[in-house]
Amino acid sequence: MPKFAQFIPFMGLALYFGALALLSFGSSDPAMSAREAPISSTGIRVPKLGYALKEPVFRGAVSCAAASCHGGGQPGKVGSEYNTWIEKDPHSRAYGVLFNDQSKVIARNMRLVKRTAEIVPAHKEGLCLKCHALNVEPPDRVPVETATGEPSSVSSPEVFAVQGVSCESCHGGAGNYLTTHFQPPFLSKTTREKAEQHGLYPTKDLAFRVALCASCHVGNEHQDVNHDLFAAGHPPFRFEYTGYHNKPAYQPHWTEKAYGDDFEVRAWAIGQVATARDAVDRLRARAELVQRDEKPKAPWPELAEYSCFACHKNLNPKGSWLPLTTTNRAPGALAWGRATMALLPLLAEKGELFGFGAKPKLTELDELRKLMEIPRPDSEKVAKQSKTVLKELDDWLMRWQQAAERNPRYPPFSPEQIVRLFREVASHALTSDTSDAKFNNLDGDSAVLYFDSLTALERGERKCSGKPIPADLSKNLEAFRKQITPPPGYYGPRDQEPSEILRILKQLKSTPLSSELRP
Ligand code: HEC
Ligand code: HEC
Ligand code: HEC
Ligand code: HEC
Repeated sequence: MPKFAQFIPFMGLALYFGALALLSFGSSDPAMSAREAPISSTGIRVPKLGYALKEPVFRGAVSCAAASCHGGGQPGKVGSEYNTWIEKDPHSRAYGVLFNDQSKVIARNMRLVKRTAEIVPAHKEGLCLKCHALNVEPPDRVPVETATGEPSSVSSPEVFAVQGVSCESCHGGAGNYLTTHFQPPFLSKTTREKAEQHGLYPTKDLAFRVALCASCHVGNEHQDVNHDLFAAGHPPFRFEYTGYHNKPAYQPHWTEKAYGDDFEVRAWAIGQVATARDAVDRLRARAELVQRDEKPKAPWPELAEYSCFACHKNLNPKGSWLPLTTTNRAPGALAWGRATMALLPLLAEKGELFGFGAKPKLTELDELRKLMEIPRPDSEKVAKQSKTVLKELDDWLMRWQQAAERNPRYPPFSPEQIVRLFREVASHALTSDTSDAKFNNLDGDSAVLYFDSLTALERGERKCSGKPIPADLSKNLEAFRKQITPPPGYYGPRDQEPSEILRILKQLKSTPLSSELRP
């Protein structure tokens, strides 16, 4: 099984948390009760983000696969989506991985988490199926292809599950649009009308889209991978939308026609806020779970809310973040939310530029952070404050959505603006902008987010300028990538040197970008 990093208790504090963690490892989370039934065919587990989504009715990916629909066509052209998904998208194999050795280890360890004797195989565990499959009850009998080619029909949930994360996981149940969505009256509808009248998810809307990805890549109240599951062997989440969109292992089955060359920059900025809102909603659910009078209690504070490297250390003797990450840290304080929210203060400062409104507020998030960064956070206060923060962040997104519904290319970015942003992100990593400054912005968790942000801005700037990446910039970003990429067989960086990351970031503040190259 891949290793994360060595766990080194330090300074008594970690022992205190360590004891908590060990206790929580034996506790049970009601969200993970064994063999959960699939949700009904009409359940929605994705954030609605201001849309009155029509309840979906699921039909299964097979209904999209006809050669004349999405199962034919030239690779890369409209109509070939099914083939791209089957061949070049790990989502089509998401159910399959539940049979691999790693899943067997996780399933075995889950028994400890749940304190049950029975080992439920991962492919039958409701929690795993929620993110690794379309785990819904088929509404009625659906046609399936059989080995003999004879049409047959079955109505087992497994028919949907075996397809993994499939068309309807991201586009909504097809029952209310399958027969009409290619006809002119439907095609002339707006994205909002398609979503609200027919349940076709508004994936064109970048805020909705990223919150949808994050529902599985960050998790939410219905589907939560917490520290118990990471410790059981699940890979850690490190989601940044543009980074995932561009992963070599993944081929999107569409082209971004609605957006211009600066797509990456807009998707990055909106993606930060949409991912953060899902992370805050997940915290709300975790905090509410503890308050329910259920035994055994859900883990609290949930360790996965904090920077992993506050407690875990990589094996390199030069690998400690500790002297670099804290400024005047109070005893017992751990940095919260770094993997998903480190850049929000910068985005707030530039709210107008990104279309979030003039001076959008971040005060409620700052309050939540303070609540979480004391040693024994009050779950009741945290749950309440999370709701307030959710509204704050959704207000940002809705201001952008309103403008973007009129013009999807809103707001436009110039190469000069992108260059400035690139430098500001590098500078932001090197400072501390919280009002009480207990932690520096850069730590082992936020380093990944800073890297993803810089590469997103670099890609956007290069596309806008139409020039190649300058050699120095390429060298520095490559060195940064090496620092944060775990070696094969590891989930955490093994040979990371925080001081080297610091050095690279300082250089990146003045390395020329493509548009600054002299002809
Ligand atoms: C909140 C959604 C969620 C839940 C719940 C979940 N997973 Fe995952 N899982 C993911 C995502 C997302 C990835 C991909 C992570 C990445 O590469 O960034 C993943 C990756 C994995 C991988 C690595 C796959 C590979 O190709 O290497 C395994 C194995 C795995 N999950 C098993 C499980 C098992 C077993 C369970 C149930 C105990 C489970 N997962 C529950 C979302 C989830
Ligand atoms: C992991 C999420 C995900 C899955 C799984 C998925 N899609 Fe998509 N799909 C998207 C996103 C995001 C877009 C781009 C947004 C848009 O244009 O609406 C998109 C775009 C499309 C488009 C528009 C293409 C274009 O060029 O305008 C079609 C058609 C489509 N998907 C069909 C499918 C089919 C068929 C399947 C199953 C074989 C599928 N999708 C599976 C997320 C997904
Ligand atoms: C229903 C849950 C779900 C949704 C929604 C979802 N994913 Fe995933 N995603 C997964 C799971 C589970 C895996 C792991 C699959 C595997 O390893 O085979 C995964 C894997 C991936 C990978 C491969 C990661 C790697 O390390 O190679 C990429 C890239 C990815 N997802 C991008 C996206 C994007 C972009 C979106 C939104 C448009 C999205 N996903 C929406 C569940 C989801
Ligand atoms: C407050 C301290 C603390 C934080 C923060 C923390 N962990 Fe842990 N972690 C522990 C302790 C204590 C153990 C050993 C007990 C257990 O398994 O729960 C552990 C065990 C683990 C293990 C299994 C043992 C190993 O080293 O391979 C993994 C994997 C893991 N943690 C991943 C993570 C990830 C990923 C994060 C960040 C999302 C994280 N941890 C955050 C304290 C912490």
